[in-house]
Formats: sequence, structure tokens, C-alpha cells
Amino acid sequence: MIDISDVRKIYKMGDQEVRALDGIDVHIGKGELAAIMGPSGSGKSTLLAILGCLDTPTSGSYKLDGLAVEKMTDNQLADVRNKKIGFVFQQFMLLARTSALENVMLPLTYAGISGKERRRRAEEALERVGLKDRMGHRPNELSGGQQQRVAIARALANSPAILLADEPTGALDSKTGADIMALFRRLHDEFEQTVIIVTHDPGIASQTNRTLRIADGIIVGDDWHVNGLSPDSVGEIASH
Ligand SMILES: Nc1ncnc2c1ncn2[C@@H]1O[C@H](COP(=O)(O)OP(=O)(O)OP(=O)(O)O)[C@@H](O)[C@H]1O
Ligand SMILES: [Mg+2]
Repeated sequence: MIDISDVRKIYKMGDQEVRALDGIDVHIGKGELAAIMGPSGSGKSTLLAILGCLDTPTSGSYKLDGLAVEKMTDNQLADVRNKKIGFVFQQFMLLARTSALENVMLPLTYAGISGKERRRRAEEALERVGLKDRMGHRPNELSGGQQQRVAIARALANSPAILLADEPTGALDSKTGADIMALFRRLHDEFEQTVIIVTHDPGIASQTNRTLRIADGIIVGDDWHVNGLSPDSVGEIASH
């Protein structure tokens, strides 16, 4: 589904070059649940933004479902973003004066979906994240974890092929973060949703099936593991 080959992102700052991504090759299949880890400044958010078509690489190729993203026009990119990608951020990014339901309906408006259908889909997405009884609440009437659930519902509302999350538990306490991670896992298990999560938390990463490690803009590790087990213990189980 995702095929990235020799992707680079170079920022020019005056006469200085920042090589945020310095030759990334990765294949991520449909239905994967993967984590991206790495030190601050290593290029994780840059990579996620490119995966989500929020940004384009300086060079290299990105094929999404066989389509060459680097060749798309801005309009085509916006269309892919609307239809295939759901994004979740550390700071929820909800509209403050707007109910949970309206927050979730908004991207469906951009996608050109009619009023009635919009409401149906938004209610369904909120139900999926366990917020059926909080639809009329505004963000400041919800806990941090509930706000992040609204953001996840918003990302899910147009049934994206890929759900991308940049440190979705970073602003939450560890118990709430664990609940959010459990939600991502449930979405992955029940709906075969492809989920890619950037995280600093090894506990979060260990609950995915694969951890990509990046440092200085390159991939330095790619470990497959069973939910909740480290790559080492999977190796041990396999060898018995
Ligand atoms: N718009 C930009 N202009 C210039 N340099 C940038 C820009 N965005 C990111 N960078 C640089 O690219 C590098 C990678 O940044 P990125 O945000 O991808 O790191 P990160 O791994 O997500 O870090 P963190 O864990 O702190 O969020 C950093 O050195 C950063 O300073
Ligand atoms: Mg980042």
C-alpha cells in the first residue's frame, strides 16, 4: 500500500541545509499496525507528513496504492488526503467552540458529503471511539482522552485507508495514553485499519506489530513483533 523509495526531504535555511530525511526506503502493507520511534529531530514528523500527503519529498518516490504521489498536483494531493488519510495529532486540534459531532462532521463537508449522510457517518465514528453519549459536548467539556477520541473519530469519519498519528498519547497521562493505544489496536483488529503511530513511548510501540526506528533521517531499525511482546521474546518463542 505504501512504498517509499530513497525519499529525501531537505530544508534550505539560508546557506545551511537541513537533511530531515536522508534516503528512506520502506514498504508498509495494508492492515499493518506500526510504530515509528527515534530521537527528537530525527525526522519522524517529516516522514509522517509525507506519508499523509501533507508535504512532498525533495526527491525520491512515494507510491500510495500504486499511485505516484510525487507526481500529483496540489488538487490531487488534497483529494488523496480527504479520501485516504486520517491524521491524529498530539494536540488534538479540535475547534474550541464546536461540539464533538460538528468537529467530526467538518472534514466530511470538505469531502462534499451531504448533510444527512455527514451526520450519520460522524455519529457512527463517535460511537466507534466510545463517545456516543458525549456528541454534544464541546472540547472544553471533555477530558484530554475524550478530546483525543473525538480527534480519532474525525480522522476515521471518511473511512480512510490509513490512519496516521503523531505522538497521539504525548499530551496524555500514561493511563489515558494506554486507553488511546487500546483504541488504536481495537480499530486495527476490528476494521483491519492500517495504523502508523509516531511515539517516544516504548510501551506504546510494544503494542504495535512493527517498530521502525529512525535516526538522522534514515531508518536504522525495522523490527516485527507480536502485540505486547518485544522483538527479542518473539524470536525466543519462534525458536522453541
Ligand atoms: N519547516 C522546516 N524548516 C526547516 N527545518 C525543518 C522544518 N521542519 C523540520 N525541520 C528540521 O528537520 C528535522 C526533522 O524534524 P522532525 O520534526 O521531522 O523531527 P521529529 O523526529 O518529529 O522530532 P520530535 O521528536 O522532536 O517531534 C529537524 O532537524 C528539524 O529542525
Ligand atoms: Mg515530531
